[in-house]
Amino acid sequence: MNDDNSISGQNGAATSAADLPGENPAALPVALPVALITGAARRIGAEIARLLHHNGYRIIIHCNNSIGEAQQLADELNAQRNNSAIVIAAELATEEGCEYLMSEVLSVDGPFEGRLNVLINNASVFYPTAFYPTTDEEATDEQWQQLFATNLRAPFLLAQKAAATLKKSSGSIINITDIHGERPLKGYSIYCMTKAGLISMTRSLSEELAPNVRVNGVSPGAIMWPEAEIDDQEKQKKVLAKIPLGRMGAPRNIAGTVLFLLENTYITGQIIKVDGGRSV
Ligand SMILES: NC(=O)c1ccc[n+]([C@@H]2O[C@H](COP(=O)([O-])OP(=O)(O)OC[C@H]3O[C@@H](n4cnc5c(N)ncnc54)[C@H](OP(=O)(O)O)[C@@H]3O)[C@@H](O)[C@H]2O)c1
Repeated sequence: MNDDNSISGQNGAATSAADLPGENPAALPVALPVALITGAARRIGAEIARLLHHNGYRIIIHCNNSIGEAQQLADELNAQRNNSAIVIAAELATEEGCEYLMSEVLSVDGPFEGRLNVLINNASVFYPTAFYPTTDEEATDEQWQQLFATNLRAPFLLAQKAAATLKKSSGSIINITDIHGERPLKGYSIYCMTKAGLISMTRSLSEELAPNVRVNGVSPGAIMWPEAEIDDQEKQKKVLAKIPLGRMGAPRNIAGTVLFLLENTYITGQIIKVDGGRSV
């Protein structure tokens, strides 16, 4: 990112929050780097948005259903720095939704100016799919379509549509994968396949888009309980027993790894596990 008014730094980011011109909108450079984070209204995506914002990025918060929470997050970030966050809602399980999101991103007026330096593919669906069909437990074609379209096809389509702009900005793509893309999670075979595909795609695109665009992945272990399992103490105990560090991670552990990958400009095609040792 080399626009005249930019604050420089790796990936075009400010080198630290202290480099930023504070809250005086008149002093705010036009060309702060722009990061699009999918599924960023809540949970891990929102934490990534806050950390990148703190480090000098303008943030495009993508959401699907959580429009209220996305707008609240944008308000929080804009209160810290004017014109530093916007919300775009889109359904990523359809090709049209991906097309819509990227055409909006690349045509935003004002300080964002259709620029893009970083794409974080974070949005995802997670639910079990029974392998053996029974009368009430069957991995349906609809589940197959939804899991693959959201978790794997959408990151590919967004990367494809963003590629030309990311090449110009010497940008980065970061895919949020899962340690269960490499080792199975019983009952979740289709989800695991989508994340295995995303890991493979990360490596492929790092070659396809080199040397201008770096593509990396962050592979979380147990960071936040899935909302459907938040009260399942028994299951939580079993998961914790398998983690050498004996505890859950926190969203900031994922956000910090994303920032590390954005800042280290000699890393591409890598997936970093952040899992308390679970995959050892
Ligand atoms: N939580 C963990 O411990 C954990 C562990 C391993 C891997 N991960 C990975 O880390 C990432 C973040 O995890 P998380 O638990 O924070 O995710 P999450 O809450 O399950 O989902 C993040 C967001 O994805 C969006 N989304 C889902 N389906 C969508 C669709 N069809 N179109 C557009 N957006 C869609 C949702 O946006 P709306 O709410 O706006 O609809 C949702 O808020 C995911 O990629 C996940 O697979 C998480």
